Amino acid sequence: MMTIYFNKEFKWLNEANLSPFDRGFLFADGVYESIRTYNGKLFRYKDHLDRLKKSLKETRIEFKELDAIENIIYELIKKNKIENEALVYLQITRGAVFPRTHIFPKEKVSPTIFISVQELKEGTEDQSRGVKVILLEDVRWLRCDIKSTSLLPVVLASQKATEENAAEAILVRDGLITEGTHTNFFAVKNETVFTAPTSRLILEGITRKVVLEFCEKFKIDYREEFINKDDLKSYDEFFITSTTKEITPVIKIDYWSVNEEQTGKITKSLQSLFKKTTEDY
Ligand code: PDD
Repeated sequence: MMTIYFNKEFKWLNEANLSPFDRGFLFADGVYESIRTYNGKLFRYKDHLDRLKKSLKETRIEFKELDAIENIIYELIKKNKIENEALVYLQITRGAVFPRTHIFPKEKVSPTIFISVQELKEGTEDQSRGVKVILLEDVRWLRCDIKSTSLLPVVLASQKATEENAAEAILVRDGLITEGTHTNFFAVKNETVFTAPTSRLILEGITRKVVLEFCEKFKIDYREEFINKDDLKSYDEFFITSTTKEITPVIKIDYWSVNEEQTGKITKSLQSLFKKTTEDY
């Protein structure tokens, strides 16, 4: 049985009780983070914590005990006897209050916190072979910089991608590519790396940040500029990034096979830099 951290206690999964009046359940009034370990150590924990703080601030959810979370996660990994790498899911909602009203609770309500860990399945074929993606309209809200649990547009788009044998749906707003449903999107042209600029239209991915740091450090040209959907065919390489997908080459976009479905040169070198960084982490 899995042990989780739920409202200030370690519990067996089947002992956790969530009120149906929890605002996370009623309104998706909550925020989350997904974090993973390398060599048993939480990868770029500070970046994830900073992003969580931002999400909490922007949604005005007051959660005071942030400093304790790192140790709680390590304790949870131990309690669940995870021997290889772990994937951590953490969610904080505004809490449970009756009756249901849209405005914030007037009385003091404790936020609900939930953390789970699971063993991470490593070394997917996707990263060596590359994946297919599909393009879909970005119908999400205009605060995609907040890691909110309000993910219905993402759920629908991901499901559509799966039904079309694609690994991810890449979202397009007003003709411009924003990001994937749960990844950031990159393109390469003439050895220059392109990705959408940080704004309210995308989530500032930690893996995205790591990739841009590599570009800076190893003198690979990069530009934080939107990629126009209609110009896609003028780029040489594509890849997506996230905590779980790391750097995954994109070899097919809708019905277009990119580069005879071979991983591009820049993508490969970024992948090997990423591998080295995480092996030594
Ligand atoms: N998703 N863009 C969106 C919309 C995301 O949801 C994510 C992360 C990313 C990549 O961020 P990072 O590199 O920090 O993982 C970009 C996580 C993995 C999730 O949904 O579980």
